[in-house]
Amino acid sequence: MPHGPTVYDEVQYPSALYRTTHPEHLAAIARLHGLGAADPRRARVLEIAGGDGLNVMAMAAALPDAQFVNIDLAPSAIARGQQLAAACGLANARIEVADVIAAAETCADDWGGAFDYVIAHGLYAWVPPAVQRATLRLIDRVLAPEGVAYISYNAMPGGYLRMALRDMLLYEMGDTTEDAGNDEDRARQAMAILGDYGRDRDSDTLEQAALRRMARRMTDKDLHFLFHDELGAVYDPKALHRIVAEAGAHNLAYLTEAQPGGLFHGMPGEALDDDAVVRRAQIADYRDLCFFHQSLFVRPGRAPLRVPDWRVFETLLAGVPAGLARTGPREFKMANNTFEIGDATLADFMELMIRRAPARLPLAAFAQSPEHGEAILRLVDRGILELHSLPFPGALDAGERPRANALLRALIAQGETRLFTLDHRAIAIDEEGPRLFLSLLDGSRDRAELTREWERSGRPEQTDVTSALRQFARAGMLSE
Ligand SMILES: C[S@@+](CC[C@H](N)C(=O)[O-])C[C@H]1O[C@@H](n2cnc3c(N)ncnc32)[C@H](O)[C@@H]1O
Repeated sequence: MPHGPTVYDEVQYPSALYRTTHPEHLAAIARLHGLGAADPRRARVLEIAGGDGLNVMAMAAALPDAQFVNIDLAPSAIARGQQLAAACGLANARIEVADVIAAAETCADDWGGAFDYVIAHGLYAWVPPAVQRATLRLIDRVLAPEGVAYISYNAMPGGYLRMALRDMLLYEMGDTTEDAGNDEDRARQAMAILGDYGRDRDSDTLEQAALRRMARRMTDKDLHFLFHDELGAVYDPKALHRIVAEAGAHNLAYLTEAQPGGLFHGMPGEALDDDAVVRRAQIADYRDLCFFHQSLFVRPGRAPLRVPDWRVFETLLAGVPAGLARTGPREFKMANNTFEIGDATLADFMELMIRRAPARLPLAAFAQSPEHGEAILRLVDRGILELHSLPFPGALDAGERPRANALLRALIAQGETRLFTLDHRAIAIDEEGPRLFLSLLDGSRDRAELTREWERSGRPEQTDVTSALRQFARAGMLSE
């Protein structure tokens, strides 16, 4: 059945990559909990409501033997995605218009069997209950027995604060839905109200100051995100325990969270059942004023580890986030944060990962004692160390005929400056020179040919080919 335009066709939702949805990451978290998970290199992955599908297309470009399907209700988003997939000949990603409600009943039949990973990012808290239920029904219908499902949503109790700002905006703007008046104007009007409200006043109480700070954070958002995320017709943040109950009614059991923080809620030696895990996580949410969840679900009865067991580190690799640097024997810096790693062996291991990035190193070589295991988990929870299930899926050295994947080159050909690395990080490259250089890397030219081509471009003074290739390899943008 043809689908008409939606509010996401009228105001485009910016396409983006979400690292924590990557099957490689989901497999690592499953393994950390002692569970088997399909090898992401050959997995089948479904993204529900993934807009134009850039998220799965970037995964597909890095994992050519895995199969991806992205569905969304907005025809213009899907047309954009299909055009991009065709432009780069991406054969392992299907991008299709579908309504979750229909898909939960019939469409799933056409998709060639069960999925090892199912992603629903930025959908659940912004759609009516019928679509929420259909999302869970669809996941239940297609998730493989060893599958992992990812569902993100605005959470309580932080949602109460966001709702206070949303109510303020909708009341001042004189409507309760997003589809009245000129959409972009409404978003700009909301931005102006937030900008004004967000300025500190001398007379502020602590509570007012906190709400103003939240308003300021909202004004950092892209206008289009603000329009959909804060002014959408449906706004239904939920407490974790409610989502767990709703998922439980569809044969989905809570595993843990996909983002750093709270991977485990118990310590070794503790006996903790699944209900106790949810209860502890929920209590932590209330105390920490949780705003957003990226919850993972598996089939019931899989008995995940509920407290850490260092033996599973044998099955994992580790890497460090971009921007981490060692600044002293024990001192490290990331963005504006400086911190210490007291254990010299761990500090050296971190430095080795920084030097070898984007390579990922086996954890087993390092984490041989419970003390090191605990230290590793603390770093993971703080986002300073990343666990992986796969080696870096690209080239660590440029090789004879350097290649950037066809999706990257197609994005550059479209004039896009927001690109991605093969470890699924967004990277903005605004300057023309590096973009042109990347677009030459189609695997057909050896270094001598690349040098000649680069000289012909009239920009050779910007950099030499060898150091440009080294930089792109280091950034994780070159394919094998
Ligand atoms: C907030 S956007 C999130 C897009 C993307 N997942 C992301 O996080 O960047 C919500 C998406 O849900 C899609 N959507 C809403 N209702 C839907 C339905 N019934 N079936 C399929 N997609 C739906 C919209 O078209 C939109 O692309």
